[in-house]
Amino acid sequence: MSAEPLGRVRVYEVGPRDGLQNEATFIPTEDKITLIEALLEAGLPTIEASSFVHPRWIPALADADAVLNHFKGSPHAERLSALVPNERGLSRAEASEVREVAVFMSASESHNQRNINKSRAEAYSAFEPIFESCARRGVRVRAYVSVVWGCPYEGELDPRAGAEVAERLLGMGAYEVSLGDTIGVGNPVQTRRVLEAVAERVPLERVAMHMHDTWGRALANCLVGLEMGIRTFDASLGGLGGCPYAPGASGNLATEDLIAMLHEMGYETGVKWESLIEAGRVAQRLMGRSLPSRALAAALASC
Ligand code: HMG
Ligand code: MG
Repeated sequence: MSAEPLGRVRVYEVGPRDGLQNEATFIPTEDKITLIEALLEAGLPTIEASSFVHPRWIPALADADAVLNHFKGSPHAERLSALVPNERGLSRAEASEVREVAVFMSASESHNQRNINKSRAEAYSAFEPIFESCARRGVRVRAYVSVVWGCPYEGELDPRAGAEVAERLLGMGAYEVSLGDTIGVGNPVQTRRVLEAVAERVPLERVAMHMHDTWGRALANCLVGLEMGIRTFDASLGGLGGCPYAPGASGNLATEDLIAMLHEMGYETGVKWESLIEAGRVAQRLMGRSLPSRALAAALASC
């Protein structure tokens, strides 16, 4: 059955960062590069390649500089991004000539404190020089709002908490804000409430969704977002992922699961399905285990 064309959706790949940050065993730098190259080959428009956080806090990504330096000057560099928590992270990103960085702030005070060792007020101040420097250098800044659907320390949050942070980060200069269900507890009814609260403050064209799939509801939540006009969704190859400072957070929505659904429905993503499955196969080989993506398993079983 060929579906009616429904327009374009952007899938923002976070596997090499959000996926790998939680891995207990260190994935060698050359394997990370192989993974990113497979994702580039599959046509993912943007790939979050690593994170310039403190290596003591996220040992799995201690080689962020080496990973990003590998792509310095390459025609693909434009499609890579990296997380930065502060000015020190930004100076590392600048040395690697990264063209897009992402800052992150939590909708709850306690998650922010545990995640980056700062209150939100302190974090906003720390972000100011990042936005200024990036504006000067023509580097794009994306912003995440974490734990919008629920916080591991404070439980379910008022959707207006996430909306307020989103508005502030866009006002500071982010080109897009990605709303995170960091621990994957959201449900579709709640998702509608969250997006309605956010839409009161910012245009949904500048909003992305970043759903973890802990309880298997990430796709259902994305469907609500799609129906409400969201056109950018974060996903992680194979469903790799989790946040070490959010107990209970498991993998992100799998890129293959999201793209299989979007393509079947009639949305275009620009991603080549066969090459994406090849990237998933590469990821499973490098990780030495099966990954949680249902669509990856189904595609591999049928070829
Ligand atoms: P801190 O210990 O408070 O740092 O950590 P500090 O400013 O006090 O500095 C202490 C030392 O660390 C100094 O060195 C700094 O230079 C150094 P010294 O003078 O003692 O030799 N330092 C750094 N070194 C390398 N890179 C840096 C850096 N910054 C300071 N960037 C810090 C504060 C923010 C660094 C730390 O808390 C941290 O790295 N946190 C990151 C935690 C993290 O990555 N969490 C997961 C990502 S967020 C997420 O997963 C959610 C998301 O996926 C969306 C969703 O799912 O909702 C985005
Ligand atoms: Mg995440």
